[in-house]
Amino acid sequence: MKLQGPKGTRDFYPDDQARRRYIHDAWRRVSVRHGFDEVDGPIYETLDLYKVKSGDGIVSELFSFRRANGTTDYAIRPEFTPTLARMVAARANALPRPIKWFALPNMCRAERHQRGRLREFDQWNVDLLGLDTPLADAEVIAVACDLLAELGVTPAMVQCRISHREVVRQILAALGVADDKMQDAFTLLDAKGKMTPEQFTDKAVALGLGKEQVARFDAMCGKTYAVGDVDALRDAAGIDDDLADLRALDATLAGFGLADWCAYDLGIVRGLAYYTGTVFELHVTVSDERALGGGGRYDKLIELFGGPAMSGVGFGMGDVVLANLLEDQGLLPEHLAPTPDAFVLAASDLGATHLPGLVATLRRAGLHTRMSYKQTRNLGKLLKDAEKARARFAVLLDDTAAEGQAQVKDLATGEQSPCAITDLAQQLRL
Ligand code: HAM
Repeated sequence: MKLQGPKGTRDFYPDDQARRRYIHDAWRRVSVRHGFDEVDGPIYETLDLYKVKSGDGIVSELFSFRRANGTTDYAIRPEFTPTLARMVAARANALPRPIKWFALPNMCRAERHQRGRLREFDQWNVDLLGLDTPLADAEVIAVACDLLAELGVTPAMVQCRISHREVVRQILAALGVADDKMQDAFTLLDAKGKMTPEQFTDKAVALGLGKEQVARFDAMCGKTYAVGDVDALRDAAGIDDDLADLRALDATLAGFGLADWCAYDLGIVRGLAYYTGTVFELHVTVSDERALGGGGRYDKLIELFGGPAMSGVGFGMGDVVLANLLEDQGLLPEHLAPTPDAFVLAASDLGATHLPGLVATLRRAGLHTRMSYKQTRNLGKLLKDAEKARARFAVLLDDTAAEGQAQVKDLATGEQSPCAITDLAQQLRL
């Protein structure tokens, strides 16, 4: 019987896991330097948690289950935001504000498996709560852009497309969408890329828009507006609002030096139901990829989860599209596995008797130490193993080990010199 992993999941062999670790390390490093603290939650929650406000977009893609003889429905987490909202709501008054959290959870969605979308993936979450100013929105966007720059990605490869749900709501209302159809209109707009123009028009007409209005809105969404150009966006939108929120965000984005990375795009609304203000998505512009990340402001969510009124803004970035992008653009370092400090090998039978003790000493001293398991005493073959492992130094044990000596070979320069075994750990650390 041949057993296979479930569709849309991945096995991480050492090279895959090293690549995954490279991405996780960058996510963690950048989060920490922007002042975010790491959190995590359970990999499954009660199904109710996701029903509260995530919208059908997520609920219809869940993996849910009930234990034999059980009465509670559970779901494997399809996103982290509901868990975060539950955690914040539970301790809202005790947590110092603003709350700046990041998490690196893996999650499952029962989506159709396609490029950039799997059924299990890792998602970097960065969230800032309890600060109701555009500084918060701009700061989380800055974290995302900084991560990209950290990995060698440039604004020519990825753009952060920003919109505002309230602005889009006003435009849609002016075009004839009733309040009770607004969420459906957001969901439809979010799914626009997945349907033909005719299908989109038919569905928009069902929501109360005339064909002409659909065409007008379509034309508006097809354009992007640069940071610093909110006036042009307002003219195109044709609404009375002075867009104070967006203008304040605009100034802060420019202040953070993010003008190159960002542009406004009224076609971005996001599928999840909990967003209330700024919404944004990271789009790869150099190849045909699904969104690399997305997020926005969710000012009602903590209250909905039983906490006090508290604003929040954040985003999620998946590892699948990010890895595709890094690979396509040649931005993944060739060797990602950790490289040994020392590779110990026995060049004689007497030397071999000293090998376990030396390896143990070096490891206890904190050095990444590997050894040869080969029985051969052929130095050429043994050194090949050390080179293959990409070790910095080969440590050769021959008969002089009995007098407390080893030979240390620098594998980059080829230089070799004797060293007292008692000094080795210190010597190799230099
Ligand atoms: P989301 O747009 O559903 O937002 O997901 C964010 C990112 O996760 C996507 O842009 C994509 O990179 C990745 N992603 C989503 N689904 C898949 C999949 N099936 N396979 C691979 N990658 C995927 C959220 O999840 C929000 N909870 C983000 C958020 C955090 N909003 C505020 N804070």
